[in-house]
Amino acid sequence: MFPKVNPTETAAWKALIAHQTQMKKVQMKDLFKNDSDRFEKMSLQFGDILFDYSKNIISDQTLEMLRQLAEECKLKEARKAMFAGEKINETEDRAVMHTALRNFSDQPVTIDGEDIMPEVRETRQKMKSFCEKIHSAKWKGYSGKKIKNIVNIGIGGSDLGPVMVTEALKPYWIEGIQAYFVSNVDGTQIVETLKHLNPEETLFTIASKTFTTQETMTNAHTAREWFLKSAKDEKFVAKHFVALSTNEKGVKDFGIDAENMFIFWDWVGGRYSLWSSIGLSIALTIGYDNFEQLLKGAESTDHHFRDTDFKENIPVIMALVGLWYTNFFGSETEAIFPYDQYMHRFPAYFQQGNMESNGKHTDRNGKNVTYSTGPVVWGEPGTNGQHAFYQLIHQGTHLIPCDFIAPAISHNPIGQHHPILVSNFFAQTEALMNGKTTAQVTTELKEKGMAKSEMEKLIPFKVFTGNKPTNSFLIKEITPYSLGALTALYEHKIFVQGVIWNIFSFDQWGVELGKQLAQNVLPELGNNKEVKSHDASTNGLINAYKKWRKQ
Ligand code: F6P
Repeated sequence: MFPKVNPTETAAWKALIAHQTQMKKVQMKDLFKNDSDRFEKMSLQFGDILFDYSKNIISDQTLEMLRQLAEECKLKEARKAMFAGEKINETEDRAVMHTALRNFSDQPVTIDGEDIMPEVRETRQKMKSFCEKIHSAKWKGYSGKKIKNIVNIGIGGSDLGPVMVTEALKPYWIEGIQAYFVSNVDGTQIVETLKHLNPEETLFTIASKTFTTQETMTNAHTAREWFLKSAKDEKFVAKHFVALSTNEKGVKDFGIDAENMFIFWDWVGGRYSLWSSIGLSIALTIGYDNFEQLLKGAESTDHHFRDTDFKENIPVIMALVGLWYTNFFGSETEAIFPYDQYMHRFPAYFQQGNMESNGKHTDRNGKNVTYSTGPVVWGEPGTNGQHAFYQLIHQGTHLIPCDFIAPAISHNPIGQHHPILVSNFFAQTEALMNGKTTAQVTTELKEKGMAKSEMEKLIPFKVFTGNKPTNSFLIKEITPYSLGALTALYEHKIFVQGVIWNIFSFDQWGVELGKQLAQNVLPELGNNKEVKSHDASTNGLINAYKKWRKQ
């Protein structure tokens, strides 16, 4: 296993603290003025993705020191350990091998000396032939009708990945197939989803790594009852329900035949599982070949991450630059703004990816950390965000590093929409960096003919300090391949940061606690007895609920 280094004890960390006191006085726009090659030096082209990180408060020296930090925190060793199938998820005693799911080489990939690739290939093949059967209508519903609706029931990683990808790739949807996603245990979601669907034409993919998650199991049972109301015979369940899981027994107990189970393995984390059979709803919606392109795009990133020097390694740079703000500038959040409507769930996907992975306060030695770990990740598609919360980013008191993402080619090139959209992207990153000086505001107001006294009152409100950092991802076009590549870049960023923060990025004990607590409360809601077993607030809320519900 790779060494467990406290990052604050490295020479690089200490040097970076001192370096930040210099860099915080630096204006990015001056860095550009003083170095005409800055964009060339601080941007990288990877396939169809142009990554520009030049609009950050960094110099060559900053990057050098951050890379030194990565070296001292043994990033190379950690990366090797992950790809080698070592059990780096120590608290669950598991390897972290989602990269094997998108490995198309003929090389073995081993965990505990066993090659896992034959099973991976077999499952891919099973997914492929299932998709073909559904699309060609060889597989029909119980009354002989073609399957038209795919309803994925899952939550967290068993939902967000399929939702994010199917939405981002809507232009690739197979004609005649509609995808739906039910995640929330709030009955409203399943009721509203099933309302207009015909059970004879509907296939449910029950997606759950554990097959015990309360929300998913509740929704799955409701779907089954809804289906049986019309099908009237249990034997038809086999035609309309398939399971995507690691838990064969749980699947059988639910009544799904092993034949209809698409397996994956404990070495795939829930929030890294869209590449596994959890992606079946994706493959059914965009076609298996496109799903494979998605995997191949991610595979290209895996090679880039595994084999490229830190200097040109995009996930490493993304991670280091992010960490620079989190740990040395005190930034608490990071935003992701896709300037592509289809990618509207990309920020939510990486909100889970990032926050569930790196929202940890215990280091790998079991000690409380003394530094910030994972930032709050959030975002919305541009340009909507501009008219909602960008104000705070421009003129508020928080430093919020932002990622801007846009395709150069739109799937819907109507009128001037796309040029208008991307001009906003470019203008925002420029404005965030340059701000607006007193001199600029004064000239503007003078041109409007404003009186001097009026101008003096208004100027402080109209000045923007600028110097707000952004990363830009300009992608030729959002295709299955480029989306796969981009998604994997963000995944590996999380890994790199987790290594430097010396935390376990692949467990999620905090969420497990919530699951247990809800199980304790549920039985108390089923009777009319006053509840006294909790704190006063929780008792009060539960009892008020019970009183209202009785009426
Ligand atoms: O929210 C916690 C979590 O364990 C996630 O990591 C996971 O993606 C989600 O629940 C769903 O779990 P499962 O796939 O086992 O139903």
